[in-house]
Amino acid sequence: MKAPSPTPMTIGARGALRGTLTIPGDKSISHRALMFASLAVGESRIEGLLEGEDVLATAAAMRAMGATIERDPDGVWRVLGVGVGGLLQPTTALDMGNSGTSTRLLMGLVASHPITATFVGDASLSGRPMARVIEPLSRMGADITASPGGRLPLMLRGLCPAVPIEYTLPVASAQVKSAILLAALNTPGTTRVIEPVATRDHSERMLAGFGAALSVERTLAGRIISLTGEAELRPQSITIPGDPSSAAFWMVAASIVPGSDVTIANVGLNPTRTGLLSALRLMGADIEAIDPRTVGGEPVADLRVRHAALSAIDVPADLAPGMIDEYPVLFVAAAFASGRTVARGAHELRVKESDRIAAMNAALGACGVAVEEYDDGLAITGSGGEAIPGGATVASKLDHRIAMSTAVAGLHATNPVTIDDIAPIRTSYPDFLATLDGLTGRA
Ligand code: S3P
Repeated sequence: MKAPSPTPMTIGARGALRGTLTIPGDKSISHRALMFASLAVGESRIEGLLEGEDVLATAAAMRAMGATIERDPDGVWRVLGVGVGGLLQPTTALDMGNSGTSTRLLMGLVASHPITATFVGDASLSGRPMARVIEPLSRMGADITASPGGRLPLMLRGLCPAVPIEYTLPVASAQVKSAILLAALNTPGTTRVIEPVATRDHSERMLAGFGAALSVERTLAGRIISLTGEAELRPQSITIPGDPSSAAFWMVAASIVPGSDVTIANVGLNPTRTGLLSALRLMGADIEAIDPRTVGGEPVADLRVRHAALSAIDVPADLAPGMIDEYPVLFVAAAFASGRTVARGAHELRVKESDRIAAMNAALGACGVAVEEYDDGLAITGSGGEAIPGGATVASKLDHRIAMSTAVAGLHATNPVTIDDIAPIRTSYPDFLATLDGLTGRA
């Protein structure tokens, strides 16, 4: 895939953020909605789908394997599924762009179909480890030839019928769990995934909604998810809640910029995703959940966030799975707290869209923040609420969350912060800058 030319952007202080905003649909749930709907027999309807590049890569791949996926002018997506076992052989390589979720989940899907698919991606994705899915999917019978180090590009030849397995996750990863569950859908017998540490459970919730034979048991060994295959999925009408990982940027921005008062509408508050909310509240953030309700089988509320004096904390490591994508922006919050925040136990950050520990150490360090790097996290000495120096150019490293987190840091910096490339933001949050303009009176 040809790398597009970088788009630099400079962001400085703009004063308080105020108003009510909407956020894009949840990225994890959007991927799953497209995949499961493509496996149902008949037409599903999806409202609130995230129209970012990552999710569009999933849509393109599902079309390439036979699903009909269309967007109505009112923004509702309609998916005509092919039925479990009905995927077709794609005629070209599946281009996953920057999306690890598309790659790992679709590898699972292909693994139990009688088709061969080649997966390619951008430079960031091609550096990420795929052995974590190659291993269990090979045990189920898939034949996978990967690039050195278990990376993309790779070719996967599915086996039909595949072999059910019982698998204990060696890393806490919803992507690996979901890859196995997707493979299990077209596998005879019962496949079991044991997760010693709970990760986001959107696959389980949504598969049950589509009518899959799935059960979850909580034991001393962890959560045991059992799925009996050769399932028939029934089409659904799905409403996707707002993405808490996108809300995160406004939760931190409003907390650190004096005078801010924002209400973020329709934020998904699945308990497997609320780690940042817990961590910010421990730091003294003023975040009120208004009108808690259920949307599409997921808990949701509006969040009112007002500026507050933040205090440093030792971030509890057990919050990590529930905020794994929010560490970059948590590090930004820590840069404005009083005292030294220590966030460790998050090794996984090294293998996200970028090495997020190194990327945020470099970015915050360049902006004049005192940061220490550990193998599994950062320690950050905050400004006590004052503006940080800023005035640097930071590298977003093909990582949307690094770009957006450093943009938030620029909002309370003495000198503007330049991000070398904001293009990656399109993968998960195409309207990020427009929303920022709206909240700062520039729209
Ligand atoms: C995701 C799981 C997480 C997360 C990613 C989305 C998912 O990855 O970081 O952005 O949708 O299942 P891991 O499973 O690798 O932790």
